[in-house]
Amino acid sequence: MSESLLDKAVVITGGGTGIGRVAAHKFADEGARVLVVGRSAGSLKETAEGRANISVATADVAAPSGPDDIVSAAESALGGIDVLVNNAAITRPQALGEIDRDVAVTQLHTNLLGPLLLTQRALPHLVAARGTVVNVTSVSGARGWPANSVYGGTKVALDFMTRTWAVELGSRGVRVVSVAPGVTQTPMLEHAGFTQEQMETSREFFLSRIPLGRIADPEEIARWIVRVADPGASYLTGAVLRVDGGINVA
Ligand SMILES: NC(=O)c1ccc[n+]([C@@H]2O[C@H](COP(=O)([O-])OP(=O)(O)OC[C@H]3O[C@@H](n4cnc5c(N)ncnc54)[C@H](OP(=O)(O)O)[C@@H]3O)[C@@H](O)[C@H]2O)c1
Repeated sequence: MSESLLDKAVVITGGGTGIGRVAAHKFADEGARVLVVGRSAGSLKETAEGRANISVATADVAAPSGPDDIVSAAESALGGIDVLVNNAAITRPQALGEIDRDVAVTQLHTNLLGPLLLTQRALPHLVAARGTVVNVTSVSGARGWPANSVYGGTKVALDFMTRTWAVELGSRGVRVVSVAPGVTQTPMLEHAGFTQEQMETSREFFLSRIPLGRIADPEEIARWIVRVADPGASYLTGAVLRVDGGINVA
């Protein structure tokens, strides 16, 4: 067990399922005190089950009150914030010509404006702790990605914020890092309303393009979220760590 995350206060948005849940377990296994945040109380409770050092808060990162709600919950449950993991996000694929304004706005609020305003609200705690922000993003913006201009745009913009905040906050001792997963086995597409057939088509499409030839297990992503947040990664900031089975270089 690494002692460096011992007793650290870690907030993970979207900690009720997928990558966020596994990251919560791994931080907790290293002795951190973790607050998982999401909109569904049931899934958050499942994440915390049997682990005394995981607490839960139901909050909507996209709502105007989201940042206040989440930081207040962290103050009550953890007494501060050493690590903020901006992991919650949604995808609602629509190609240009079909894009619905409300659907686009919800993605922008959840994936981009939410993390921005939450990080800003958490800043006094992060500065006091000389803490770390981990932004969970996605594949790079170097290539086009049909039907994903909004989702992909939010993720590329969040990588830009990682670089910008790293510069803005470096002198205050706060590190900011993106972990950019490749295709990972989580309920994300199910949450997007995909049918089994659509999920299979998407899986086949990506499998043929991933050099390692398989979809990631969430554990293979979550371990990097924990490692970049470890105080031992003390010189790492402004980086985008692609954990993608090689898809970006293929
Ligand atoms: N799976 C992949 O292939 C993949 C690839 C690249 C990047 N990623 C990124 O990895 C991260 C985790 O995704 P995942 O794959 O683990 O998918 P997931 O299981 O759908 O996790 C997303 C989580 O975010 C929460 N969430 C959504 N909207 C929210 C809101 N407004 N406020 C608070 N919580 C909200 C969801 O819970 P509630 O609905 O209960 O709120 C859910 O637990 C995301 O940033 C995603 O973009 C995933």
